[in-house]
Amino acid sequence: MKRPPDGLGPIIALDRRLAKPLHRQLYDGYREAILDGRLRPGQRLPSTRTLAHDLQISRIPVVTAFEQLIAEGYLDSRVGAGSFVSSALPEQAWSRAEHPPGTGAAPRAGPRRLPRDRLPRLAAPWHDHSGAFRVSQPALDEFPAEVWARLVARRARLLPRRQMTYSDPMGFAPLREALADYLGTVRSVRCTAQQIMIVSGSQQAVAVAGHALLEPGDAVWLEEPGYPGARDALTLAGARMVAVPIDDEGLDVAAGMARCKTARAAYVTPSHQYPLGMIMSASRRLQLLDWARRRGAWLLEDDYDSEYRYDTQPIASLHGLDTDQRVLYIGTFSKVLFPALRVGYLVIPTDLVPRLRKIRDAMDIFPATLYQAVLHDFLRGGHFARHLRRMRAVYAERRRVLVSSIERELGDSVRIAGDRAGFHLVVLLPPDARDYDIAVRAARSGISVIPLSTCYAGPRSRPGLVLGYGPTRATEIPDAVRRLKTILRA
Ligand SMILES: Cc1ncc(COP(=O)(O)O)c(C=O)c1O
Repeated sequence: MKRPPDGLGPIIALDRRLAKPLHRQLYDGYREAILDGRLRPGQRLPSTRTLAHDLQISRIPVVTAFEQLIAEGYLDSRVGAGSFVSSALPEQAWSRAEHPPGTGAAPRAGPRRLPRDRLPRLAAPWHDHSGAFRVSQPALDEFPAEVWARLVARRARLLPRRQMTYSDPMGFAPLREALADYLGTVRSVRCTAQQIMIVSGSQQAVAVAGHALLEPGDAVWLEEPGYPGARDALTLAGARMVAVPIDDEGLDVAAGMARCKTARAAYVTPSHQYPLGMIMSASRRLQLLDWARRRGAWLLEDDYDSEYRYDTQPIASLHGLDTDQRVLYIGTFSKVLFPALRVGYLVIPTDLVPRLRKIRDAMDIFPATLYQAVLHDFLRGGHFARHLRRMRAVYAERRRVLVSSIERELGDSVRIAGDRAGFHLVVLLPPDARDYDIAVRAARSGISVIPLSTCYAGPRSRPGLVLGYGPTRATEIPDAVRRLKTILRA
Protein backbone atom coordinates (compact mmCIF):
# COMPACT_ATOMS: atom_id res chain seq x y z
CA MET A 1 0.00 0.00 0.00
CA LYS A 2 1.35 3.41 -0.97
CA ARG A 3 1.75 5.69 2.03
CA PRO A 4 0.13 9.13 1.68
CA PRO A 5 2.53 12.10 1.75
CA ASP A 6 3.51 13.49 5.14
CA GLY A 7 1.68 16.46 6.66
CA LEU A 8 3.35 19.54 8.06
CA GLY A 9 3.92 20.26 11.73
CA PRO A 10 4.16 23.53 13.64
CA ILE A 11 7.53 25.14 14.25
CA ILE A 12 8.75 23.96 17.63
CA ALA A 13 12.00 25.28 18.98
CA LEU A 14 13.61 22.45 20.94
CA ASP A 15 16.25 23.40 23.43
CA ARG A 16 18.63 20.65 24.53
CA ARG A 17 19.98 22.82 27.34
CA LEU A 18 16.66 22.80 29.20
CA ALA A 19 16.03 20.38 32.04
CA LYS A 20 12.71 19.59 30.38
CA PRO A 21 13.21 16.45 28.26
CA LEU A 22 12.82 16.68 24.49
CA HIS A 23 9.71 14.49 24.39
CA ARG A 24 8.03 16.83 26.88
CA GLN A 25 9.00 19.91 24.88
CA LEU A 26 7.54 18.29 21.77
CA TYR A 27 4.39 17.21 23.60
CA ASP A 28 3.86 20.74 24.97
CA GLY A 29 4.53 22.31 21.58
CA TYR A 30 2.02 20.11 19.75
CA ARG A 31 -0.59 20.36 22.45
CA GLU A 32 -0.33 24.14 22.48
CA ALA A 33 -0.57 24.26 18.67
CA ILE A 34 -3.73 22.11 18.77
CA LEU A 35 -5.33 24.11 21.54
CA ASP A 36 -4.72 27.49 20.01
CA GLY A 37 -5.95 26.37 16.60
CA ARG A 38 -2.68 26.38 14.62
CA LEU A 39 -3.31 22.68 14.04
CA ARG A 40 -6.90 21.99 12.96
CA PRO A 41 -9.03 18.89 13.69
CA GLY A 42 -8.36 16.18 11.12
CA GLN A 43 -5.06 17.75 9.96
CA ARG A 44 -2.39 15.25 8.97
CA LEU A 45 0.93 15.44 10.82
CA PRO A 46 4.41 14.48 9.71
CA SER A 47 5.45 10.90 10.41
CA THR A 48 7.61 10.38 13.48
CA ARG A 49 10.48 9.46 11.17
CA THR A 50 10.20 12.67 9.14
CA LEU A 51 9.78 14.80 12.22
CA ALA A 52 12.83 13.24 13.91
CA HIS A 53 14.80 13.85 10.71
CA ASP A 54 13.63 17.50 10.44
CA LEU A 55 14.40 18.21 14.07
CA GLN A 56 17.67 16.27 13.91
CA ILE A 57 16.86 14.21 16.98
CA SER A 58 16.38 10.49 17.53
CA ARG A 59 12.95 9.02 16.87
CA ILE A 60 12.42 7.94 20.48
CA PRO A 61 11.36 11.33 21.96
CA VAL A 62 9.10 11.92 18.96
CA VAL A 63 7.38 8.55 19.36
CA THR A 64 7.04 9.12 23.14
CA ALA A 65 5.46 12.55 22.61
CA PHE A 66 3.03 11.28 19.95
CA GLU A 67 2.04 8.28 22.06
CA GLN A 68 1.18 10.62 24.92
CA LEU A 69 -0.84 12.92 22.64
CA ILE A 70 -2.71 9.90 21.24
CA ALA A 71 -3.40 8.53 24.75
CA GLU A 72 -4.82 11.89 25.82
CA GLY A 73 -7.04 12.16 22.77
CA TYR A 74 -5.29 15.07 21.02
CA LEU A 75 -4.11 12.90 18.11
CA ASP A 76 -5.51 9.91 16.28
CA SER A 77 -3.32 7.37 14.64
CA ARG A 78 -4.55 5.32 11.67
CA VAL A 79 -2.59 2.28 10.62
CA GLY A 80 -0.79 2.94 7.35
CA ALA A 81 -2.11 6.50 7.15
CA GLY A 82 -0.17 8.30 9.90
CA SER A 83 -1.19 10.63 12.71
CA PHE A 84 -3.92 13.26 12.62
CA VAL A 85 -5.21 15.93 14.96
CA SER A 86 -8.26 14.41 16.62
CA SER A 87 -11.55 15.45 15.01
CA ALA A 88 -13.37 14.91 18.29
CA LEU A 89 -11.69 17.94 19.84
CA PRO A 90 -14.20 20.68 20.50
CA GLU A 91 -14.10 24.09 18.83
CA GLN A 92 -13.82 25.66 22.27
CA ALA A 93 -10.46 23.93 22.78
CA TRP A 94 -8.97 27.41 23.20
CA SER A 95 -10.24 27.50 26.77
CA ARG A 96 -7.93 24.67 27.80
CA ALA A 97 -4.73 26.23 26.68
CA GLU A 98 -3.97 27.95 29.95
CA HIS A 99 -3.30 24.89 32.06
CA PRO A 100 -2.93 21.13 31.69
CA PRO A 101 -6.35 19.48 31.40
CA GLY A 102 -8.24 19.13 34.63
CA THR A 103 -5.26 19.73 36.86
CA GLY A 104 -5.93 23.18 38.20
CA ALA A 105 -2.23 23.93 37.65
CA ALA A 106 -0.75 27.10 39.10
CA PRO A 107 -1.77 30.31 37.36
CA ARG A 108 0.72 32.63 35.74
CA ALA A 109 1.87 35.47 37.92
CA GLY A 110 -0.17 38.65 37.95
CA PRO A 111 -3.72 39.39 36.84
CA ARG A 112 -4.86 37.43 33.84
CA ARG A 113 -7.76 38.17 31.53
CA LEU A 114 -8.79 36.13 28.55
CA PRO A 115 -6.75 37.34 25.56
CA ARG A 116 -8.94 38.67 22.79
CA ASP A 117 -7.81 36.05 20.30
CA ARG A 118 -9.02 33.37 22.70
CA LEU A 119 -12.58 34.61 22.85
CA PRO A 120 -15.15 31.88 22.29
CA ARG A 121 -15.97 30.95 18.73
CA LEU A 122 -19.60 31.30 17.87
CA ALA A 123 -19.30 29.80 14.43
CA ALA A 124 -20.17 26.22 15.37
CA PRO A 125 -22.51 25.04 12.59
CA TRP A 126 -25.22 23.85 15.00
CA HIS A 127 -25.66 27.45 16.14
CA ASP A 128 -26.57 28.57 12.63
CA HIS A 129 -29.54 26.29 12.04
CA SER A 130 -33.00 26.49 13.33
CA GLY A 131 -33.41 22.81 12.47
CA ALA A 132 -34.78 19.94 14.52
CA PHE A 133 -33.41 19.34 18.01
CA ARG A 134 -31.93 22.81 18.47
CA VAL A 135 -30.73 22.73 22.10
CA SER A 136 -31.91 25.41 24.57
CA GLN A 137 -34.77 26.54 22.39
CA PRO A 138 -38.23 26.28 23.93
CA ALA A 139 -41.44 25.52 22.01
CA LEU A 140 -41.91 29.02 20.66
CA ASP A 141 -44.92 27.87 18.63
CA GLU A 142 -46.72 27.30 21.94
CA PHE A 143 -45.84 30.64 23.52
CA PRO A 144 -48.94 32.75 24.35
CA ALA A 145 -47.85 35.50 22.00
CA GLU A 146 -51.19 37.35 22.03
CA VAL A 147 -51.30 37.68 25.81
CA TRP A 148 -47.68 38.80 25.81
CA ALA A 149 -48.26 41.36 23.05
CA ARG A 150 -51.20 42.77 24.97
CA LEU A 151 -49.12 43.17 28.14
CA VAL A 152 -46.23 44.74 26.23
CA ALA A 153 -48.56 47.18 24.47
CA ARG A 154 -50.18 48.23 27.73
CA ARG A 155 -46.88 48.86 29.49
CA ALA A 156 -45.47 50.71 26.49
CA ARG A 157 -48.55 52.91 26.22
CA LEU A 158 -48.61 53.74 29.91
CA LEU A 159 -44.88 54.12 30.40
CA PRO A 160 -44.62 56.59 33.30
CA ARG A 161 -41.78 59.12 33.34
CA ARG A 162 -40.26 57.57 36.47
CA GLN A 163 -39.75 54.35 34.51
CA MET A 164 -37.92 56.24 31.78
CA THR A 165 -35.00 57.31 33.88
CA TYR A 166 -32.08 55.59 35.66
CA SER A 167 -33.09 52.89 38.06
CA ASP A 168 -31.87 50.38 40.63
CA PRO A 169 -28.97 48.14 39.48
CA MET A 170 -30.81 45.25 41.20
CA GLY A 171 -33.79 45.57 38.87
CA PHE A 172 -37.49 46.46 38.89
CA ALA A 173 -38.71 46.11 42.49
CA PRO A 174 -42.23 44.74 41.78
CA LEU A 175 -40.75 41.98 39.60
CA ARG A 176 -38.28 41.07 42.34
CA GLU A 177 -41.17 40.85 44.85
CA ALA A 178 -43.10 38.56 42.51
CA LEU A 179 -40.02 36.41 42.00
CA ALA A 180 -39.32 36.10 45.73
CA ASP A 181 -42.85 34.70 46.15
CA TYR A 182 -42.45 32.32 43.21
CA LEU A 183 -39.03 31.01 44.26
CA GLY A 184 -40.06 30.45 47.87
CA THR A 185 -43.14 28.48 46.86
CA VAL A 186 -41.87 26.49 43.91
CA ARG A 187 -38.08 26.19 44.31
CA SER A 188 -37.57 26.16 48.12
CA VAL A 189 -35.41 29.27 47.71
CA ARG A 190 -36.05 31.37 50.79
CA CYS A 191 -35.07 34.93 50.06
CA THR A 192 -36.30 38.48 50.17
CA ALA A 193 -36.77 40.67 47.12
CA GLN A 194 -33.74 42.70 48.31
CA GLN A 195 -31.53 39.68 47.63
CA ILE A 196 -32.70 39.27 44.04
CA MET A 197 -30.83 40.88 41.16
CA ILE A 198 -32.49 40.85 37.75
CA VAL A 199 -29.88 39.98 35.14
CA SER A 200 -29.71 39.61 31.41
CA GLY A 201 -29.96 35.80 31.56
CA SER A 202 -27.93 33.28 33.57
CA GLN A 203 -24.90 34.23 31.54
CA GLN A 204 -24.76 37.66 33.14
CA ALA A 205 -25.49 36.16 36.57
CA VAL A 206 -22.36 34.00 36.29
CA ALA A 207 -20.34 36.94 34.98
CA VAL A 208 -21.44 39.31 37.79
CA ALA A 209 -20.75 36.65 40.43
CA GLY A 210 -17.38 35.82 38.86
CA HIS A 211 -16.24 39.45 38.77
CA ALA A 212 -17.48 40.17 42.29
CA LEU A 213 -16.21 37.09 44.08
CA LEU A 214 -13.05 35.99 42.30
CA GLU A 215 -9.57 37.40 41.94
CA PRO A 216 -7.80 36.77 38.63
CA GLY A 217 -6.28 33.29 38.77
CA ASP A 218 -8.65 31.97 41.46
CA ALA A 219 -9.60 28.35 40.88
CA VAL A 220 -13.23 27.38 40.20
CA TRP A 221 -14.63 23.86 40.03
CA LEU A 222 -16.66 23.11 36.95
CA GLU A 223 -18.59 19.94 36.21
CA GLU A 224 -16.88 17.75 33.59
CA PRO A 225 -18.69 17.59 31.20
CA GLY A 226 -20.42 20.88 31.88
CA TYR A 227 -22.00 24.01 30.51
CA PRO A 228 -19.58 25.83 28.18
CA GLY A 229 -21.42 29.13 28.72
CA ALA A 230 -20.47 29.17 32.40
CA ARG A 231 -16.90 28.21 31.53
CA ASP A 232 -16.72 31.18 29.14
CA ALA A 233 -18.17 33.67 31.61
CA LEU A 234 -15.87 32.59 34.43
CA THR A 235 -12.83 32.55 32.15
CA LEU A 236 -13.63 36.11 31.11
CA ALA A 237 -13.73 37.00 34.81
CA GLY A 238 -10.13 35.73 34.99
CA ALA A 239 -10.87 32.50 36.88
CA ARG A 240 -8.90 29.31 36.43
CA MET A 241 -11.04 26.30 35.56
CA VAL A 242 -10.68 23.03 37.45
CA ALA A 243 -12.61 20.29 35.69
CA VAL A 244 -14.22 17.99 38.26
CA PRO A 245 -15.67 14.67 37.08
CA ILE A 246 -19.31 13.77 37.61
CA ASP A 247 -20.91 10.39 38.17
CA ASP A 248 -24.47 9.18 38.75
CA GLU A 249 -24.69 11.33 41.89
CA GLY A 250 -23.50 14.52 40.19
CA LEU A 251 -20.29 16.43 40.94
CA ASP A 252 -17.68 14.21 42.61
CA VAL A 253 -16.83 16.42 45.58
CA ALA A 254 -13.99 14.16 46.76
CA ALA A 255 -12.39 14.36 43.31
CA GLY A 256 -12.76 18.14 43.39
CA MET A 257 -10.98 18.28 46.73
CA ALA A 258 -8.24 16.00 45.44
CA ARG A 259 -7.71 18.26 42.41
CA CYS A 260 -7.94 21.62 44.07
CA LYS A 261 -9.17 21.79 47.65
CA THR A 262 -8.57 25.53 47.80
CA ALA A 263 -10.87 26.51 44.92
CA ARG A 264 -12.78 29.73 45.59
CA ALA A 265 -16.03 28.63 43.99
CA ALA A 266 -17.88 25.83 42.22
CA TYR A 267 -20.42 26.15 39.41
CA VAL A 268 -23.02 23.36 39.57
CA THR A 269 -26.33 22.31 38.00
CA PRO A 270 -27.72 20.10 40.81
CA SER A 271 -31.35 19.72 39.67
CA HIS A 272 -30.54 18.62 36.13
CA GLN A 273 -26.85 18.35 35.39
CA TYR A 274 -25.96 20.01 32.10
CA PRO A 275 -25.58 18.15 29.81
CA LEU A 276 -25.86 14.59 31.20
CA GLY A 277 -28.99 15.17 33.27
CA MET A 278 -28.38 13.46 36.60
CA ILE A 279 -29.73 14.88 39.87
CA MET A 280 -27.11 15.66 42.47
CA SER A 281 -27.71 13.26 45.37
CA ALA A 282 -28.49 14.52 48.84
CA SER A 283 -25.20 13.29 50.24
CA ARG A 284 -23.22 15.11 47.52
CA ARG A 285 -25.19 18.29 48.17
CA LEU A 286 -24.28 18.09 51.83
CA GLN A 287 -20.63 17.33 51.05
CA LEU A 288 -20.51 20.29 48.68
CA LEU A 289 -22.08 22.64 51.21
CA ASP A 290 -19.71 21.34 53.88
CA TRP A 291 -16.68 21.95 51.65
CA ALA A 292 -17.92 25.46 50.82
CA ARG A 293 -18.48 26.26 54.48
CA ARG A 294 -15.06 24.99 55.57
CA ARG A 295 -13.15 26.67 52.74
CA GLY A 296 -15.21 29.84 52.57
CA ALA A 297 -15.96 28.98 48.92
CA TRP A 298 -18.98 30.14 46.91
CA LEU A 299 -21.41 27.82 45.16
CA LEU A 300 -23.06 29.03 41.95
CA GLU A 301 -26.22 26.96 41.56
CA ASP A 302 -27.56 27.18 38.00
CA ASP A 303 -31.18 26.01 38.15
CA TYR A 304 -31.76 26.59 34.45
CA ASP A 305 -34.63 24.24 33.59
CA SER A 306 -35.83 22.41 36.68
CA GLU A 307 -39.42 23.65 36.22
CA TYR A 308 -39.88 20.75 33.82
CA ARG A 309 -39.59 17.32 35.46
CA TYR A 310 -41.38 14.29 34.19
CA ASP A 311 -41.13 11.46 36.70
CA THR A 312 -41.11 13.30 40.03
CA GLN A 313 -41.92 16.70 41.41
CA PRO A 314 -39.26 19.36 40.71
CA ILE A 315 -36.19 18.74 42.87
CA ALA A 316 -35.64 21.14 45.78
CA SER A 317 -32.77 23.56 45.31
CA LEU A 318 -29.30 23.36 46.84
CA HIS A 319 -29.98 26.89 48.05
CA GLY A 320 -32.78 25.53 50.25
CA LEU A 321 -30.27 23.35 52.13
CA ASP A 322 -27.72 26.11 52.66
CA THR A 323 -27.59 27.33 56.23
CA ASP A 324 -24.35 29.31 55.80
CA GLN A 325 -25.16 31.69 52.93
CA ARG A 326 -22.64 30.08 50.58
CA VAL A 327 -25.01 29.55 47.61
CA LEU A 328 -25.76 32.07 44.88
CA TYR A 329 -28.85 30.81 43.11
CA ILE A 330 -29.27 31.47 39.38
CA GLY A 331 -32.47 31.15 37.37
CA THR A 332 -33.54 32.19 33.89
CA PHE A 333 -36.64 32.84 31.79
CA SER A 334 -34.79 31.69 28.66
CA LYS A 335 -36.18 28.17 28.95
CA VAL A 336 -39.59 28.82 30.42
CA LEU A 337 -40.46 31.80 28.20
CA PHE A 338 -37.98 32.64 25.43
CA PRO A 339 -34.23 33.31 25.28
CA ALA A 340 -34.45 36.67 23.46
CA LEU A 341 -36.20 38.09 26.53
CA ARG A 342 -32.75 38.11 28.21
CA VAL A 343 -34.14 38.07 31.73
CA GLY A 344 -32.79 35.92 34.52
CA TYR A 345 -32.19 36.39 38.24
CA LEU A 346 -29.50 35.94 40.81
CA VAL A 347 -30.33 35.34 44.47
CA ILE A 348 -27.47 36.74 46.52
CA PRO A 349 -26.48 36.11 50.18
CA THR A 350 -27.45 39.28 52.04
CA ASP A 351 -23.91 40.31 52.98
CA LEU A 352 -22.77 40.14 49.37
CA VAL A 353 -25.55 42.30 47.94
CA PRO A 354 -23.62 45.62 48.05
CA ARG A 355 -20.58 44.05 46.35
CA LEU A 356 -22.55 42.49 43.51
CA ARG A 357 -24.69 45.56 43.11
CA LYS A 358 -21.54 47.64 42.58
CA ILE A 359 -20.23 45.23 39.92
CA ARG A 360 -23.59 45.30 38.16
CA ASP A 361 -23.58 49.07 38.22
CA ALA A 362 -20.14 49.06 36.63
CA MET A 363 -21.23 46.60 33.93
CA ASP A 364 -24.45 48.02 32.49
CA ILE A 365 -25.91 50.17 35.31
CA PHE A 366 -29.32 48.46 35.41
CA PRO A 367 -31.54 46.21 33.31
CA ALA A 368 -34.03 47.69 30.82
CA THR A 369 -37.30 48.32 32.62
CA LEU A 370 -40.00 47.69 30.00
CA TYR A 371 -39.74 43.89 29.73
CA GLN A 372 -39.25 43.55 33.49
CA ALA A 373 -42.55 45.34 34.00
CA VAL A 374 -44.23 43.13 31.39
CA LEU A 375 -42.81 40.02 33.04
CA HIS A 376 -44.11 41.21 36.38
CA ASP A 377 -47.61 41.45 34.88
CA PHE A 378 -47.21 38.03 33.27
CA LEU A 379 -46.31 36.47 36.64
CA ARG A 380 -48.83 38.31 38.78
CA GLY A 381 -51.59 37.85 36.23
CA GLY A 382 -51.34 34.04 36.48
CA HIS A 383 -50.19 33.65 32.86
CA PHE A 384 -46.84 32.22 33.86
CA ALA A 385 -48.30 29.43 36.01
CA ARG A 386 -50.76 28.58 33.21
CA HIS A 387 -48.01 28.56 30.61
CA LEU A 388 -45.78 26.30 32.72
CA ARG A 389 -48.56 23.80 33.30
CA ARG A 390 -49.37 23.67 29.59
CA MET A 391 -45.73 23.39 28.55
CA ARG A 392 -45.12 20.48 30.92
CA ALA A 393 -47.67 18.50 28.92
CA VAL A 394 -46.24 19.64 25.56
CA TYR A 395 -42.66 18.70 26.46
CA ALA A 396 -43.73 15.43 28.10
CA GLU A 397 -45.31 14.42 24.78
CA ARG A 398 -42.30 15.54 22.67
CA ARG A 399 -39.98 13.70 25.03
CA ARG A 400 -42.09 10.52 24.89
CA VAL A 401 -42.08 10.53 21.09
CA LEU A 402 -38.35 11.31 20.91
CA VAL A 403 -37.35 8.57 23.35
CA SER A 404 -39.47 5.96 21.59
CA SER A 405 -38.20 7.06 18.14
CA ILE A 406 -34.59 6.81 19.29
CA GLU A 407 -35.22 3.38 20.81
CA ARG A 408 -36.94 2.19 17.66
CA GLU A 409 -34.52 3.63 15.10
CA LEU A 410 -31.17 3.53 16.89
CA GLY A 411 -31.79 0.58 19.22
CA ASP A 412 -28.92 -0.83 21.24
CA SER A 413 -26.24 1.12 19.41
CA VAL A 414 -26.86 4.14 21.64
CA ARG A 415 -27.92 4.94 25.18
CA ILE A 416 -30.20 7.77 26.27
CA ALA A 417 -29.21 9.91 29.26
CA GLY A 418 -30.67 12.90 31.04
CA ASP A 419 -34.25 12.73 29.78
CA ARG A 420 -35.98 13.12 33.13
CA ALA A 421 -36.13 16.91 33.20
CA GLY A 422 -35.82 20.00 31.04
CA PHE A 423 -36.14 19.63 27.29
CA HIS A 424 -32.92 18.15 26.09
CA LEU A 425 -31.47 14.66 26.35
CA VAL A 426 -28.18 13.06 25.43
CA VAL A 427 -27.71 10.20 23.00
CA LEU A 428 -24.51 8.45 24.13
CA LEU A 429 -22.66 7.02 21.15
CA PRO A 430 -20.19 4.11 20.97
CA PRO A 431 -16.69 5.08 22.25
CA ASP A 432 -15.14 5.28 18.76
CA ALA A 433 -17.84 7.61 17.35
CA ARG A 434 -16.77 11.09 16.23
CA ASP A 435 -19.56 13.20 17.58
CA TYR A 436 -18.10 16.46 16.29
CA ASP A 437 -18.06 15.24 12.66
CA ILE A 438 -21.55 13.79 13.07
CA ALA A 439 -22.90 17.09 14.42
CA VAL A 440 -21.31 19.03 11.54
CA ARG A 441 -22.90 16.66 9.00
CA ALA A 442 -26.23 16.76 10.82
CA ALA A 443 -26.22 20.58 10.79
CA ARG A 444 -25.84 20.49 7.00
CA SER A 445 -29.03 18.38 6.89
CA GLY A 446 -30.99 20.78 9.10
CA ILE A 447 -30.50 18.85 12.35
CA SER A 448 -28.92 20.94 15.11
CA VAL A 449 -27.36 18.65 17.67
CA ILE A 450 -24.47 19.61 19.96
CA PRO A 451 -21.52 17.20 20.17
CA LEU A 452 -21.14 16.08 23.77
CA SER A 453 -17.36 16.37 23.46
CA THR A 454 -17.68 20.19 23.28
CA CYS A 455 -18.99 20.16 26.83
CA TYR A 456 -15.68 18.76 28.15
CA ALA A 457 -12.88 21.04 29.29
CA GLY A 458 -10.27 18.27 29.30
CA PRO A 459 -9.28 16.10 26.34
CA ARG A 460 -10.88 12.89 27.57
CA SER A 461 -14.45 13.03 26.44
CA ARG A 462 -17.28 10.66 25.85
CA PRO A 463 -18.91 10.90 22.42
CA GLY A 464 -22.58 11.74 22.29
CA LEU A 465 -25.14 14.14 20.89
CA VAL A 466 -27.20 16.62 22.87
CA LEU A 467 -30.70 16.84 21.37
CA GLY A 468 -33.22 19.50 22.32
CA TYR A 469 -36.85 18.55 21.91
CA GLY A 470 -38.19 21.98 22.81
CA PRO A 471 -38.60 23.36 19.30
CA THR A 472 -39.50 20.16 17.43
CA ARG A 473 -43.16 19.16 17.15
CA ALA A 474 -44.06 15.59 18.09
CA THR A 475 -45.24 14.93 14.52
CA GLU A 476 -41.83 15.96 13.10
CA ILE A 477 -39.68 14.01 15.56
CA PRO A 478 -39.84 10.46 14.05
CA ASP A 479 -38.72 11.70 10.63
CA ALA A 480 -35.92 13.83 12.13
CA VAL A 481 -34.66 10.78 14.08
CA ARG A 482 -34.68 8.71 10.87
CA ARG A 483 -32.56 11.40 9.18
CA LEU A 484 -30.20 11.37 12.13
CA LYS A 485 -29.96 7.60 11.84
CA THR A 486 -28.90 7.93 8.20
CA ILE A 487 -26.17 10.37 9.23
CA LEU A 488 -25.00 8.06 12.03
CA ARG A 489 -24.88 5.08 9.66
CA ALA A 490 -22.83 7.08 7.16
C1 LIG B 1 -26.89 25.07 31.80
C2 LIG B 1 -27.50 26.31 31.24
N1 LIG B 1 -27.63 27.37 32.02
C3 LIG B 1 -28.21 28.49 31.57
C4 LIG B 1 -28.70 28.58 30.30
C5 LIG B 1 -29.46 29.82 29.89
O1 LIG B 1 -28.66 30.87 29.66
P1 LIG B 1 -29.32 32.33 29.57
O2 LIG B 1 -30.22 32.48 30.75
O3 LIG B 1 -28.14 33.24 29.63
O4 LIG B 1 -30.06 32.42 28.29
C6 LIG B 1 -28.57 27.53 29.45
C7 LIG B 1 -29.03 27.66 28.05
O5 LIG B 1 -28.57 27.05 27.17
C8 LIG B 1 -27.98 26.36 29.93
O6 LIG B 1 -27.90 25.28 29.15
